[in-house]
Amino acid sequence: MRINGTVAARLNDLGAELRPGVSLAEHTSLGIGGATDEIVLRRYDTIPQIMRLLADENIPHRFLGGGTNVLIADGELPWVVLHLPSVRPGMRIEGNAAVVEASADLGGMVTFCAKHDLGGMEGLIGVPGSVGGALRMNAGAYGTQIGSYVREVELYRAASGEIETLRGNDIRFDYRHTSFAPEDMMLRVKLELPSKPYKEILAGIRVCNEKRRASQPLNQKSAGCIFKNPPGGSVGRMIDELGLKGQRVGDAMVSERHANFFVNAGSASCADMRGLMDRVREQVHAAYGIELEHEVIVWQN
Ligand code: EPU
Repeated sequence: MRINGTVAARLNDLGAELRPGVSLAEHTSLGIGGATDEIVLRRYDTIPQIMRLLADENIPHRFLGGGTNVLIADGELPWVVLHLPSVRPGMRIEGNAAVVEASADLGGMVTFCAKHDLGGMEGLIGVPGSVGGALRMNAGAYGTQIGSYVREVELYRAASGEIETLRGNDIRFDYRHTSFAPEDMMLRVKLELPSKPYKEILAGIRVCNEKRRASQPLNQKSAGCIFKNPPGGSVGRMIDELGLKGQRVGDAMVSERHANFFVNAGSASCADMRGLMDRVREQVHAAYGIELEHEVIVWQN
């Protein structure tokens, strides 16, 4: 979708940067996605005005974080994407808490906190993506979920059209799911973390890194696990048991290393990936009677 000159000028006045015709394949870890205009939100205080402008002009929009857990449609996309600028380091320590910008890198946050003797999040070390995306999805690995440490979240709330601060206790964090509305935009989070000596945290980080390297295809383009695990089960094991590793639709392929990772083995399209997901979903349903739910966020036209 393309933004016209009048709206572009208004966005500029509101301190946002318009990047026309961006290929979202370059902004996603899967390397899949069509083209659209991108708005970089360089100021938080004008976000409510920007959202009102987009609504008044009937410009559909989606909010893109780190792009590591999203499968985006091919071709010219019918919505613009909103993006927060990257900030370095984008975090500071306040006693036992870390105050972190949503656009900051999740792994960078874990190591930053570790250097200040704040631990607990070792399991999240190899999870790619931004802190905002991790928060929205309640990202987790190796027994850790980010939601457990949230004390406060500053966000743009679609319901009120304003920037608000929510207390951690008022947010529900479930398995790969939260009570945030799809149109809410994470801006900043305050995490309260247990004190732990740096060396101890580092040892935990090393263990998780090794486990991940041994079991996941880290050097291939993917969005992590493609399906959610059903209660008490592992989709990776089920797909593996069905002998589906290496199955392809076009360049979309079930990883040879971890069967719940679907990788882009060349120039896969969104249609290829959807085709592979459908095929695997059907086979899992036929064999186990389980209806798989996708864990990646799918943006269709
Ligand atoms: N397994 C197989 N074959 C495979 C993959 C796994 O037999 O191809 C077996 C493993 O041997 C193990 C069991 O299945 O006995 C579970 O595997 P794993 O430890 O890799 O965990 P998972 O349930 O497949 C979950 C998360 C991952 C997270 C790991 C580690 C989901 C959907 N996946 O995977 O998260 O990194 O645990 O905590 O919850 C993600 O969310 O994108 C993701 C990768």
